[in-house]
Amino acid sequence: MKHLIFIGFMGSGKTTLGKRLSKKLHIKFVDTDQYIEDMEGKSIREIFETEGEDFFRNLETKALKDLLQSPNRLLLSLGGGTPLREENRRLIKENGFCIYLQMSAEEAYIRLKKDTKRPLLQTKNPKQTIEDMLEKRNPIYESAADYILKEDGKNIPQVLNELLEIEGTVYENISD
Ligand code: S3P
Repeated sequence: MKHLIFIGFMGSGKTTLGKRLSKKLHIKFVDTDQYIEDMEGKSIREIFETEGEDFFRNLETKALKDLLQSPNRLLLSLGGGTPLREENRRLIKENGFCIYLQMSAEEAYIRLKKDTKRPLLQTKNPKQTIEDMLEKRNPIYESAADYILKEDGKNIPQVLNELLEIEGTVYENISD
């Protein structure tokens, strides 16, 4: 039994799309950032501020391990940095069918320029930060994915429809 896993850069709509798709597929949705915030009783921003990024990354791996053990099939939305750790990629490959919600740096910037919740984007030049991060991360996301969905120029209902169109493939792959 494989879980359905959404990965992608911040702002790619993993949570919004995950919630909507999970309703259609009648499976439970869990967002790892939310799970971590509940576990710690703090926001991601506070965790970064008080404990630092390494501490957060360890919580992320722990959350992933916990959730993948669920006996019921889940739709999991992972924080944008989760696939960067080799151990996490292995866990994703072994236990999930992974969909990468891919967008360009331009699209990411449009969606994220007013963001205040993501600690890694609170820089002097968020546009450059996004470009640099995405350049490094895109090949890693691609290597972790079983399916790549290109989002640029599409709105949420269009992406959702596309996800539903691949539903047959997804089901085939997660039910073995
Ligand atoms: C991060 C992405 C965030 C959150 C944290 C770090 C990242 O999650 O986990 O701010 O390194 O890309 P979202 O992708 O849900 O915004």
